[in-house]
Amino acid sequence: MEFKEGLSEILLTEEQIQARVREMAAQISEEYRGKDPVFVGVLRGVVVFFSDFIRHFDDFCQIDFMCVSSYRGTQSTGECIITKDVSIELRNRHVIILEDILDTGKSLDFCYNYLLAKKPASLKICTLLDKPDRRKPWIDIKADYTGFVIPDKFVVGYGLDCNERYRNLPYVAVVKPEVYEK
Ligand code: IMP
Ligand code: MG
Repeated sequence: MEFKEGLSEILLTEEQIQARVREMAAQISEEYRGKDPVFVGVLRGVVVFFSDFIRHFDDFCQIDFMCVSSYRGTQSTGECIITKDVSIELRNRHVIILEDILDTGKSLDFCYNYLLAKKPASLKICTLLDKPDRRKPWIDIKADYTGFVIPDKFVVGYGLDCNERYRNLPYVAVVKPEVYEK
């Protein structure tokens, strides 16, 4: 199959994404003026959003990353493990978690509570995409900043993958079911 044959529609164009990322970065730049925030990216899906976002953040800041794995697809217990931890000391810092997509909420809920235990001065969540229809009712997590609310469809591109493919698309597209059901 050719690269783009598995996609059924473009949900967000490159132009839409770029405009919204600039807008979010401008808003957060104002709100965190002089606070020297730490942006913590949740790998790996966030990398494209993260690198665009920070280039539009217009003040001092620091960046760090963490990587969590959830046992999705196997016997899902909802448990997450950290496979890469943050390196910067976050105590008394203003921390913003950057994530690609808020889906069931399990991984962000885990990251949020994990980072909260490090006693930052403040902790907020910024997600590019939110699929509220997928949220588990017992998970009480919401993003402070959301790029786009999208319907309950499996999407790829702009960092998001399907079996580690499609992360390099500059837009967000819906995948045909036969691709992810394979
Ligand atoms: P949650 O813990 O269910 O909220 O899952 C969040 C993670 O699942 C995201 O960081 C993505 O890596 C992955 N994910 C959820 N929905 C999608 C999607 O539509 N496309 C690609 N990855 C997704
Ligand atoms: Mg992710």
